[in-house]
Order: sequence, then C-alpha cells, then structure tokens
Amino acid sequence: MKRFKKNFLWGAATSAYQVEGAWNEDGKGLSVQDVLAPPNDTICDFKVASDHYHRWKEDVALMAEMGLKAYRFSISWSRIFPNGDDEKPNEKGLQFYDQLINELLKYKIEPIVTLYHFDLPFALQERGGWLNRDMIDIFDRYARTCYAAYGDRVKYWITINEQNNLIMHAIRFGTLKKEEASYKNRYEMNHIMCLAQAKATKSCREMIPNAKVGLALSYRTAYPASCKPEDVLAAENYRAMRNWLYLDLAYRGEYNPIAWAYLEAHDATPTILEGDMDMLKSAKPNFIGINYYRSTTWTACHENEKFVEGTINLKGRKGESIYQADPGWFKETRNPYLDVTDWDWAIDPIGLRLALREVYDRYRLPIMITENGLGAYDSLVNGKVEDDYRIEYLRKHIHACLQAVNDGVDLIGYCVWSAIDLVSVNNGFSKRYGLIYVNRDEHDLKDLKRIPKKSFYWYRDVIQSNGSNL
Ligand code: BG6
Repeated sequence: MKRFKKNFLWGAATSAYQVEGAWNEDGKGLSVQDVLAPPNDTICDFKVASDHYHRWKEDVALMAEMGLKAYRFSISWSRIFPNGDDEKPNEKGLQFYDQLINELLKYKIEPIVTLYHFDLPFALQERGGWLNRDMIDIFDRYARTCYAAYGDRVKYWITINEQNNLIMHAIRFGTLKKEEASYKNRYEMNHIMCLAQAKATKSCREMIPNAKVGLALSYRTAYPASCKPEDVLAAENYRAMRNWLYLDLAYRGEYNPIAWAYLEAHDATPTILEGDMDMLKSAKPNFIGINYYRSTTWTACHENEKFVEGTINLKGRKGESIYQADPGWFKETRNPYLDVTDWDWAIDPIGLRLALREVYDRYRLPIMITENGLGAYDSLVNGKVEDDYRIEYLRKHIHACLQAVNDGVDLIGYCVWSAIDLVSVNNGFSKRYGLIYVNRDEHDLKDLKRIPKKSFYWYRDVIQSNGSNL
C-alpha cells in the first residue's frame, strides 16, 4: 500500500472576501462581492466576514498549532489595485499580503496563492468586466505585480478559482447582470477569461522559473442515473460542459468537441481571434487544482422538456433544491445511494477518487485538492464544537485520496475548506466549514473569538502522521 508523499502539502484554504472583512480599509477599492446583495435578507454580507484582516497573526498562529504544511488564500485584487488597473499599486494592500506570507514562512507553512477568487474589482466590472478583451492585459498586469512582490517566497500560484462557476452561475457570482447573462455572453466571457489565464500563467513561468502554476476548478463527478444509454450520454454531456470545457482549454489549449457542439446548439460560440488558440496552447500550466465537494447524477432530457435553470438551496433544509434541466443535453436528479448535506450536496468520497483518476488519466499532471470540506450547522456548547460529522466527512475523503494515490494518481496536496469559519458564498455564516470556529452569527458579530473545533485536533493528528492516522 502506497502512502502520501513525504512532502505532501497538508493544507487548508480560505478566500479573501469570505474571510478578511475590512472591505473599505487601507485604500481597498470595492469588489463585485462588496456590491452584490446577499441572496436573501437573513444572510449576512462580506463586510466584516471573519475579521481576518485584523486578526491574521492570531489566525496564522492557530494554523501553525494545527501543524498545517500549507495555507491557500487569495489576494484581494481591489486591495492591490483599487480600481483594477490603477497606475500604481496600493502599498498598504501589498504590505498586508507581504506580512501574511512572511508570518506563514516563519512557521514553515507553504503559501498557496490564488490571484482571483470571485472578487473582481467593481470598477472593472463597470467597464464591461470579463466581456472586455482589455481584461487579458489588465489581469496579466495585476498578476505580474503579485509575482514581482511575492515570487521570491511563493512557489504555488492559482490563477482563477472556479471559472466554471463564474460562467455557469454568472448572475449569482456577479460576473454578469441578469439582462446580460445570455449563453452567448457567458461563453464569450469564458474565452476571454481563458486567454487572461493563459497570459498570466506564461508570465508566472517566465518570472518565477520554479513556480507551480495552475487553476482551481469546481469539479463534479457525474453519474448516469441508470445504465440506459441515454442517461450515460447525458452524464457525459454534463461532464464536458462542467469539467472538460475548462480543463481542455487550459491544459490542452483546445475546445472540447462535445462542449463546442453544445455551444453551437445554444448559439453561444465565442469570437476567436487570430493567435488566441496559440496563446492558450503555449501557456502550459504545470499542476491542476481540484475543488471537490460532491458528485451529481444525470438523466436524459428530451428536446420537448422544459428548460430549468436550477436553484441553489438557500434555506439549508434538505430537499429544497430545484434541479436543472437542459433539453436535449442533461437533467439532474437525486442519487438514491448517497446521503446529502443540509444544502442537498451529495456526500460522495468515491466520487473524489473517481475525479482524481479521471483528471490524472486525461492530463497526467500533478493534482492538488485545493478545496474539500463539509458545510454544516455547528454549535458552540460549553465552549466546544464537537463536529464529528465533519471529521467523518474529511476522513472518508482523505481516505479516497489515498486510494487514488494507490491507483497511480500524482497527488501533491490536500486543502480542507476552510481553515477557519468564513462567510459561505451563498449561505452566509450559518453554513460553516472551518476547522476553527469564529464566534459570530449571521448578523450579531459577538466577540469573533477563535475556538479550535474537534476537527482541528483530529486534522493535527492526520498531518503529524502524514495521513496514517485517519
Ligand atoms: C467553492 C468556492 O465553490 O465552494 C468557495 O471556491 C466556497 O469560495 C465553497 O465557499 C463552498 O461553497 P458555499 O456556497 O457553501 O460557500
């Protein structure tokens, strides 16, 4: 039985706008996330979040106590360039991440830096956002500024987090306004984002020769609901649209043929200018980040059926999600073999093993699990959080990683989402992921005290034993 590599990156992750707060301090400009209204009024915004901006030292000390070997965080673009492409970067913004990186290194925690995690500077959104081809150079300039500032100490770089969510759920993630969110615009934007990513990847490899650079994709394993050939086809269609479209563009420099057929059928093929495909091909990112939470299950969707956009479960009550249906392509359904979280996410560690095998088989590049974790309601009782359900989830998923390693997958790291409680993208503060509890509620900030959960101590043992004590 193989074990995890000796220098395996046992990590945990966060993103800037979900954890930092200080949304308008020290010269930070607005990001789209600061402007976007929470999906309903019972859910908090991102203005204070976990107040990490003021408590980063204490937070890093706790990460060190947990024994983390790596910490994945994102840089808030609008802290560095308040308007996205100002003449000069904001020194205070640069300083914040500089001291954070130094503090991590003091404890021998490897920084893994994401450049863009959903929080585009609002000023750029006002100039057309990702529909504007100028974004290719603007993103590259921001990326180069970060490489120049931190490249002497940061080896792992992630360009864009979950581009597939930014495209497929463009309205909710703030990448497009409702009236602009046609399929044509989404995939036009996708093409431009891919070019921006390719350019920034090339810059990274040029400026930091020993860098590991890649993207992080929201990966979903897709099962057919039955062995009926039509269902198998539906699952394959979904896989192409959710996973391969993005990964093939980034790692092969080409459009996936099934995804391209889908774009043609939806009148959504992008404008491809001379040189675009060469740029994509020449980028050569050298590792793949996978964010994995759940699998999905698919049945055939007849041409005559109704199109359903699908909704995110905002209430945190099982069974309230509305599944999507795309006539002629795929229709989602519940998997009767899997339990789900309170937000209807299918809990499926074997799905993770499959994901790792599929991706490695296809691209043969090192993979890092850049996010994996359980969103749950936690309770603080007598000063403790006994989150055995989270331990159970993580144990099974880490075990699945080990099995994938035995299947031959080159897995270099695993990051729990999240290092510390933070504001969920769609579900506010009630849906917690952290190994460290933050004492606040949806609208009552309380004392924001940090309290290690039971899972914190469990993960410390896992790290100490390099994954032997699960
Ligand atoms: C990923 C994102 O989609 O999933 C994170 O990269 C996010 O930012 C995580 O928090 C969990 O999703 P949610 O909606 O439960 O916060």
